[in-house]
Amino acid sequence: MKRVFSGIKPSGHLTLGNYLGAVRRWAAVDQYRADALFCIVDLHALTVEHDPARVRRLSRQAATLLLAAGLDPERCTVFVQSHVDEHARLSYLLECVATDGEMRRMVQYKEKAARERDRGGSVRLSLLTYPVLMAADILAYGTDEVPVGEDQTQHVELARDLAVRFNQRYGRTFVVPRATHPEVAARVMNLREPGSKMGKSDDVGPGIVYLLDEPDVVRRKVMRAVTDSGREVVHDSAGQPGIANLLEILAACTGGDPADLSGVHASYGALKRDTAEAVVELLRPVQARHKELCADPGYVAGVLRDGAERARAMARPTVDAAYRAIGLLPAVSDTGADTGVDTGAVLNAAR
Ligand code: TRP
Repeated sequence: MKRVFSGIKPSGHLTLGNYLGAVRRWAAVDQYRADALFCIVDLHALTVEHDPARVRRLSRQAATLLLAAGLDPERCTVFVQSHVDEHARLSYLLECVATDGEMRRMVQYKEKAARERDRGGSVRLSLLTYPVLMAADILAYGTDEVPVGEDQTQHVELARDLAVRFNQRYGRTFVVPRATHPEVAARVMNLREPGSKMGKSDDVGPGIVYLLDEPDVVRRKVMRAVTDSGREVVHDSAGQPGIANLLEILAACTGGDPADLSGVHASYGALKRDTAEAVVELLRPVQARHKELCADPGYVAGVLRDGAERARAMARPTVDAAYRAIGLLPAVSDTGADTGVDTGAVLNAAR
């Protein structure tokens, strides 16, 4: 079975965009077809100014929502990145394989660093090294496929480059992963700025529907979505991005094709009303399950504890092998016995 790994960063409340673009598919498809890990990547939430209590709260909430959305701990591994030391351990080794120039070329780094400087803030070093940690997330698990949005393609490419480079220099240690972009994933855009995606890090905005928004809040946000100067309700992403976005959302909620919805609605208002109700109905069961899970925090904590244990057991051998391969002296194990096995040599021999 293929190994699949994806992560979600607890830097904001999960949005309809996260759900339709990623989480829904993890629950409906990926956990059945693959040996899948879904990680709350909390270390990544520390790369820009953050509030400790908020990160903690958002991490717990994200985990609860992933379960509410249908991730089944019997079928996949749901865990929190910081619970598994292997990520940070491997990240350092990969920093010794990546180059400074490579990091500074990352588009997301350039954009976020520029934004931070414009605000007069300082740029955390971890923002620069973030893609290396992400590579460690992926490579520690022998991941074959990484389902992510297009904006993460460059980061997954880096993970591939680092895997290949490490393997060439130190012997075959890592599986070379690839990014996958599910064909039917809806690309949900901000309702007020249909030119930018409905991301969770954009902070509170009237154009962002959160998974935990009350039905009336959802309705209000959808009804106030920007529309275009045309009249007809047709699917034209370039000419009518606002309407196209609503059609995409409606189609994603009802399982149809946005193009088929062209001409179905007599007015923008009718389209908005239909879309709002479709979103409310889509979120209803997720919110109900979330509420149940919140009433049982011990259950969620238990899932995360088991998930971390499983993840650790998966990552440990690969990361240990990388330590040996790169030239670090094996520690004498707790039992006092050094196995004496040179894992790097073993992997080289097996090549
Ligand atoms: N960088 C990703 C994002 O912002 C989150 C992420 C971190 C991730 N580590 C990952 C995604 C590993 C896939 C695999 O969305």
